[in-house]
Amino acid sequence: MQVIEKPKQMQSLSEALRREGKKIAFVPTMGYFHEGHLTLMREAKRLGDVLVVSIFVNPLQFGPSEDYDRYPRDLERDLKMAEEVGVDIVFHPQVEDIYPPNFQTYVEVSELQKYLCGRFRPNHFRGVATVVLKLFNIVKPHVAVFGLKDYQQYLIIKRMVEDLNLDVEVVGIPTVREEDNLAASSRNVYLNMEERKAARALYKALMEAKRLFEDGERNASKLLEASRKVIEREPLVNLQYLELCDPETLEPLSGNIERALLAIAAWVGKTRLIDNIILE
Ligand code: PAJ
Repeated sequence: MQVIEKPKQMQSLSEALRREGKKIAFVPTMGYFHEGHLTLMREAKRLGDVLVVSIFVNPLQFGPSEDYDRYPRDLERDLKMAEEVGVDIVFHPQVEDIYPPNFQTYVEVSELQKYLCGRFRPNHFRGVATVVLKLFNIVKPHVAVFGLKDYQQYLIIKRMVEDLNLDVEVVGIPTVREEDNLAASSRNVYLNMEERKAARALYKALMEAKRLFEDGERNASKLLEASRKVIEREPLVNLQYLELCDPETLEPLSGNIERALLAIAAWVGKTRLIDNIILE
């Protein structure tokens, strides 16, 4: 496994691989790997001849009061795990190489970024879209794999790829969960034992709506109310949003629904967690 730090070096390597006719599969990450990341890597490995994984905690996607500084990092551990999964190349750039002092170009996916997390994290998706476009230009992948746990991020990347005619196939992978059904996340390490137990309420709330939906309930307010009640029973969990929305446009849905994304964001202590399911 090769570890590359410089964008120019990564670009020449990718160019050479492409000339050899190799199919490049890519998984962008911010590191501190968990089973979600590893599942994306295994899937990406099946989709290409060479697997590139990037590890870069992207300052542009964190707000001024968010957790950029304390975001968990452990390169040694990540490299070991990547090696075990059969990653061929790890791209691990420094912040200065991605954002030199006169950096001033950004990508915005104007509509999709307005909803859900975008309402509470201004500039977050601008930071995500910008870094992913840069990573695509550096790694030059044929196919890139993203997790549906970050459903809005996945839609935004798909939209950007289509709108800007990027020659990359974007593949989405279902959410990987831990034993207690909490969606795997690098941020789960922030939770103490009590919070960890309380955090189960997110998935339980989603499942409550799913159960009612499967029993034939189609009214959006009723589904949301039942789901919200599950959260309200858990004093350590503070809801940020719980919404039913169109799975393609992310516009909020009301009245009777047929197919919908049910998305949740909540604070558990000082940790912000997200999750979602599709009702259909
Ligand atoms: P990060 O949070 O490290 O996630 C990297 C990839 O893993 C993303 O595609 C994310 O959706 C996926 N992922 C995380 N948890 C998952 C889970 N439980 N199940 C399935 N997939 C999961 O997302 C980012 O980094 C950044 O925003 C990035 C795209 C790298 C841009 O900086």
